[in-house]
This record gives sequence, structure tokens and C-alpha cells, in this order.
Amino acid sequence: MLTAQEIRRRYLEFFHRHGHTVVPSGPLIPPQDPSLLFTNAGMVQFKGLFLGEEKAAYTRAASCQKCLRVSGKHNDLENVGRTARHHTFFEMLGNFSFGDYFKREAITWAWEFVTTELELPRERLWVTVFREDDEAAAIWKEVAGLPDERIVRMGEKDNFWTMGDTGPCGPCSEIYIDQGEDMACGPECGIGSCDCDRFLEIWNLVFTQFDQAKDGSRSPLAAPNIDTGMGLERIAAVCQGKRSNFDCDLFQEIIQFAAARAGVTYSASAPDTNDVDTALRVIADHSRAAAFLIAEGVLPSNESRGYVLRRLIRRALRFATLMGVEEPFLHAVARKVTEVMGEAYPELARHAEFIARAVHEEERRFAQTLGNGLRLLEEELARLAERGERVIPGEVCFRLYDTYGFPLDIVNDVAEKRGFAADAEGFTALMREQRERARANQKAEGLFGHGGEDEIMASLKSLGERLESVFVGYESLEAHSPVLALLDAGGAPAESLGEGGAGFLVAARTPFYAESGGQASDAG
Ligand code: ALA
Repeated sequence: MLTAQEIRRRYLEFFHRHGHTVVPSGPLIPPQDPSLLFTNAGMVQFKGLFLGEEKAAYTRAASCQKCLRVSGKHNDLENVGRTARHHTFFEMLGNFSFGDYFKREAITWAWEFVTTELELPRERLWVTVFREDDEAAAIWKEVAGLPDERIVRMGEKDNFWTMGDTGPCGPCSEIYIDQGEDMACGPECGIGSCDCDRFLEIWNLVFTQFDQAKDGSRSPLAAPNIDTGMGLERIAAVCQGKRSNFDCDLFQEIIQFAAARAGVTYSASAPDTNDVDTALRVIADHSRAAAFLIAEGVLPSNESRGYVLRRLIRRALRFATLMGVEEPFLHAVARKVTEVMGEAYPELARHAEFIARAVHEEERRFAQTLGNGLRLLEEELARLAERGERVIPGEVCFRLYDTYGFPLDIVNDVAEKRGFAADAEGFTALMREQRERARANQKAEGLFGHGGEDEIMASLKSLGERLESVFVGYESLEAHSPVLALLDAGGAPAESLGEGGAGFLVAARTPFYAESGGQASDAG
């Protein structure tokens, strides 16, 4: 069996042989890019090179990038667990050219890689090109010998890639695999005409030629570039003859662990046909995302990235209760993630203990409120049903969120099952109001921000500036010190932290070297 790890290795080696510098994954939290909450594609760390704002020692790169698609233009959260191929966290293999090679090489190497390295059957491969891109179509015909009917032309919606509202973008060409007639969704099944999994997109080649401005206008870049992306989980599943990404080796270890721990069996059923399988898929996906986020310093909170993390953990917990799990157990699954993926991503291994603790703490908090919140939701549904109404008002959704820590997804999940809908717009408006109120308060309070990781970091920074913390690590590896300030995991000032609790503290004297200048910080 071609393992995911082996595919990752072969991919990077292949492009290394073709003159690419292998660059490690950039962080999930893009530094200095306010346009994105999370890295959503391999090209994000190279944005400055595409725009010609930065220079590197190389003009060709290849990477395996950790990605998170839970916000903004690329958001797959609601689909996770219900389909065979959506994830929040995933790994993206990509090769890049910064004003170096263009369409011909990108297409030639992609074809060579899938047919010779991965040995996918040529007769089952199809491609798409952007409607007007005769050049790409001609290259495919020449390089791959594909007949015209297996080179499908598509419009902007499918074959023009943008990273978000702004930034580098361009027409693209995608490689598809035909997974077999028995997977067809009906007589109309085909690329572009349906969304089923018979024809599965496996690799996107973007011909990055433009920079998109806020108003949607596009200006040509100084030189044409290449940006490609192939989801590792998806290609691993294809190579392993599995019809769901969740059945590839990368996921199975985590899913089997979670199943054993929960006392249930995973039956590799078709998507959305088996509640236990759906729950296990959601749990595996969200634990991976949570582990990687915490490893980068994000902690559950009610703001920004911390809120995304909270939603992921709580959504996973909600699915765990649907499987009959009452005890905290997500921290153990997250711990498993750090074992399974710690070799490829050392930051997971390094922070394994902390990751498990932060998840555990959030599990405890949520457990306290889940029962109450569910009861309130049930009462509300009964009231609505009595009145013959089907929409849960935004104000109720907001109360559930604000008082019981129920993210909207959970309200949606429960509501949908019972034939109700939630007023998401009303909810969002109330959220916005609250956020504005919080910002105003925060300004007034000065020292502490209650909330997001950015705020926590800002609080710590400002604390660090006001409270002197003396580094004694050159003389000693141990020190005794008073605690000058204490924050809980959400960044709020705390009097104490419970056993096993996570938080932040400022010490007057510390032997711990802080992360700076690219060095890892001390732990202990
Ligand atoms: N950036 C392109 C994508 O994410 C390759 O599909």
C-alpha cells in the first residue's frame, strides 16, 4: 500500500529532482497577513514572492503545507463528516514557480507524477481547463495524449482560483480521476454537471498571473507563476483504493483509536448514512485541527481564532455525545493525533502534553453547560412547534451561545435533525454588536483583553512591558519567583488555575528562554 507518508516523500523528492527547493510547511496562522485568518493553501507562505514584493534564493519550490478551511472564502466546516472528502484541517502538496517555468512544465510534471510515481491508470484520468485557455488544452493533448472529450472546458466558478477577496490568482487546470461507473449519481453524472464523487478532482494547477484588488479588479503580475495544490488525504485515499478520505491510513489510526475509546465500531459506510461513522469522522477531523491550532499557540476563547478552535472542539464533543460518550475523551484523541502526526510535524510532538491539557480543559468547561443548553434548546423547539414555526430566532441562538457556549453549528445540527432552521443572520448581527461592546470595554479596561489569541498575545506583551521579568537562565535552570500576573486560557485575569488547567503567567524571575529569532522556546 502506498502510505500517505510515502506519497508525501515521493512528491517532494520528485520536484526536488526537477530543481525545486523543498520548503517546510508555513504556519497555520499566517504571520503579517491580515487578509486571512488561517493558511488555506500552499501558496500562502509564498504570497510575497508571487506579488514580487519579496525575493528568495530560489525560483522553484515544493512543499507539504498544513491548511485549515474554516473561514472566509474557503470554508468546509459544515460539510465535514457528511461527505467523503471535506476537511477543516488537511495537508496540501504543492509545487510553485516564481516567474520561472509556466504551463508546459507544470502540466508535464503533474502528468508524469500521477502516472509514473503514483501509477494512476491513464485511461481514468480527465482534466479541465479554463474556458478560454486554448494553450493549456493544447499542452494537455500533446503531453498526455488525452482525447478532446477528456479535456473539459469550465467557467470562472470552477477554473479560476483566488485565495480570498484579494491576492494572487489566475485561471487553473485540474486533474480528475474517474472512480468508476458504479459511483455515478445518475444519467447526468459528469465533470461540471454534478457534484458527486465519481469524477474526483485530485490536483489543481493554477496559472497565477493576476493580483486581485479589494474592488475585484485584477492587475497582471510582473511575471507569470505556477501554484499547484493536491490534497494529501484525498490522493492517499485514491492510491489506497478507498472511496473516502477518512478511510486512508492517515485518518484510520485516529478513527480506530477514537472508536475503541468510545466503545463503538467504525464501519466505513457511505457518507451520511451512519451516525456513528459521521461522528467519528467529525471527531477525527476536528481533533486534528484542534491539535495543530493549539500547537501554534491558539487557545479556546470567544473571539477570532480562539472562537474557531472552541467551535471545532465543541462541535466534536457534540458528536461524541451523539455516540453516547459522556466522559471527556477528545483530549485523548488529540493526544493520539500528536503521536500519529508528530514525526512529520515536530511542533505536535513538542507540545503534546499542552495540547491534551488545553482540549481537556475545554471539554470540562463545555460539559458544565451542555446539558443546560440542550434543555433550553429543547424547550424552545417545543414552543416553536406549538406555534407552528420552524425558525429558531437569532436572539435564542445568541443566548445559547452567550450563556451556554453553544456555537451556532451545534444549534444547526440539532435543529436540522428535527426539521428546524436557525436564524443565522440574526445571530451574526447580535454577535457583531457584542463584539463591538467588548472592544469598547476593552479600551476602557486597558490591561486585559477578554478573548482572542491576538488579544491574549497583546495582553501578555503589554504585561511584559509593564512588569519586569528577569531572565536568569544563563546562571541557573531553576528559579523561585513570585507570580506577577495570571491569565486563564481565554486571556481573562484569574485568581487561580485549577489542577490541569491551562493559562498564562508572568514570573518575576524565569530560567525559561522565550521563543525568539527562530529558536524554540524552553519548556518545563
Ligand atoms: N492554491 C490552489 C488551491 O488551493 C492550488 O487549490
